[in-house]
Amino acid sequence: MNRSSSNRALITGASAGIGKAFAEMFAKRGIDIVLVARRRERLEDLAAELRDRHGVDVIVWDGDLAKSETPELLFKALQDEGVTVDVLVNNAGFGVPGDLVDVEWNRHRNCLEVMTAAPVRLTHLFAPGMIERRKGSIINVASLSAVLPPHAGGTLYYPVKSFLLQFSLAMREELRPHGVKVSAVCPGFTETDFQLAAGGTVESVAFPKALWSKPEDVAEAAIQAVRANKPICIPGLVNKVIAVFFKLAPDAVGRWAVR
Ligand SMILES: NC(=O)c1ccc[n+]([C@@H]2O[C@H](COP(=O)([O-])OP(=O)(O)OC[C@H]3O[C@@H](n4cnc5c(N)ncnc54)[C@H](OP(=O)(O)O)[C@@H]3O)[C@@H](O)[C@H]2O)c1
Repeated sequence: MNRSSSNRALITGASAGIGKAFAEMFAKRGIDIVLVARRRERLEDLAAELRDRHGVDVIVWDGDLAKSETPELLFKALQDEGVTVDVLVNNAGFGVPGDLVDVEWNRHRNCLEVMTAAPVRLTHLFAPGMIERRKGSIINVASLSAVLPPHAGGTLYYPVKSFLLQFSLAMREELRPHGVKVSAVCPGFTETDFQLAAGGTVESVAFPKALWSKPEDVAEAAIQAVRANKPICIPGLVNKVIAVFFKLAPDAVGRWAVR
């Protein structure tokens, strides 16, 4: 099959939640897709659905982004097929609740690998093609946590998402002269398997369910933000209010509130 495409999006963490919603939103717009995650069966099911409903070309690539060699293997596999990527969505992620010392090192290592090293490496691999074609977009799925004061419990998650947000803002400056757009999306609580996978957190239990975002709304807001070339997208009014509160509140008040 000829895989050359005028417009293709690569989405990490596409087997569930926000990543799956991104795939649906891009496919709806007639954009071809590369789906990346570990659970191949889920990706195959989604690919079949998207081909059927929207007539787009979908490539499934199962890989573990906690392994440092995965981004390069993915890039080479696509290169060998002559596939170019116009939109990169760094979305794969998971929460790690608990104090740093109470969680086994391997989980922290995976967290750093999937949510910091992999997005940076994928950007390093795919951005040169975008620069050459003077066309492309990168969406980094950070979190509202990135703009809140860090706190004990889930200790690593806040700093990791802050890193991704800062990286996104820096890449935006670097790629701007080349016609490549970069946006970070900072969702608040969103109805996905995320909290389940994280084993539930105190904050997620306390936050009223009616105020949670839908993954489709998060993906749609992020796509619109990158199209409008906005640096940061905070989907949902409640999350925007929370972000403004923590921006304006004195440090001590912010730390107390988040605690
Ligand atoms: N839901 C929320 O409340 C919320 C809020 C703020 C930010 N976020 C962020 O949004 C992003 C998506 O989360 P979600 O809510 O959609 O969670 P989700 O439903 O649990 O989906 C997570 C996705 O990441 C993939 N993934 C996890 N570890 C991976 C690995 N080692 N290699 C490759 N893929 C991996 C999973 O696929 P496989 O398991 O098949 O590999 C899955 O597709 C994350 O970065 C998360 O931090 C979520």
